[in-house]
Amino acid sequence: MSVVKSLETHELKPGFGSEIARVDLARASDAELAEVVSEFHRVGAIVLRGQSLSPEQFRRFGQAFGELEGHTLNDFTLPDHPEIYVLSNRVEDGRPVGAHNDGIGWHTDLNYTAEPVMCTMLYAVTVPPEGSDTLIADQCAAYAALPGERQEELAKLKQIHSFEYLAGNRTEGRKVIPPEVLRANPDVIHPLVRTHPADRRKALWISSMTPGFVGWSTAESTPVIDELIEWVTQDRFVYRHKWQVGDVLVWDNRCSLHTGTLFDDTKYIREMHRMWVKGDRPY
Ligand SMILES: [Fe+2]
Repeated sequence: MSVVKSLETHELKPGFGSEIARVDLARASDAELAEVVSEFHRVGAIVLRGQSLSPEQFRRFGQAFGELEGHTLNDFTLPDHPEIYVLSNRVEDGRPVGAHNDGIGWHTDLNYTAEPVMCTMLYAVTVPPEGSDTLIADQCAAYAALPGERQEELAKLKQIHSFEYLAGNRTEGRKVIPPEVLRANPDVIHPLVRTHPADRRKALWISSMTPGFVGWSTAESTPVIDELIEWVTQDRFVYRHKWQVGDVLVWDNRCSLHTGTLFDDTKYIREMHRMWVKGDRPY
């Protein structure tokens, strides 16, 4: 246990992430929220358990981190809260109320945009008793653990990130993407080794499901991308979040990869509220 200013925090795993105890986000002061945000910038991911948040209260929490981002698809945003996107397998009057099986496979959110989202926050409304864990891989620890020579080689590479490629290659949650959405999300190029603006730590900002590295063919790139994803997602770099109702989990997309995991959706309901906070151009 450590105390950062007035916060009581526990590491999620050595050197990565914090569970923040005894903060009631529905009633937290602006000063308390500012401390939560600065802890987030320091550690890469934060968890606050036992929360009970209306959409307005969840939005206030999100706004403490910065300007909220809209969603690529707005099919499942809350009616009066377009900044909150619903992930769910619940069906109401024959219609799904949320996106189901989104985010399976290692990725960072909105990596295919020029300014990917800084962070993603999930609030657990309903969770199954087993399955559906969220895994977060610490890309800074993964980069730091590489030999210096390999770090230098990788720092020279840039990766092409493509919404069209991602949409065409995903296996779970695949859907038909309207042509105007494809036009609004042209391919972008980002450095493979990304600098965190808070303290200049370096992250191995690899993304799966991309066409490859600049100057390399997809066939040349794919085995290297696969190898790097395997490196970053070793158990020693990964935090596994087991959900409880009322959990709020926030991760920093500037220094982590994440993936959802499946659950028995014939037996259980899972429902999450998701928000995104705007980020900046990777460098
Ligand atoms: Fe995601």
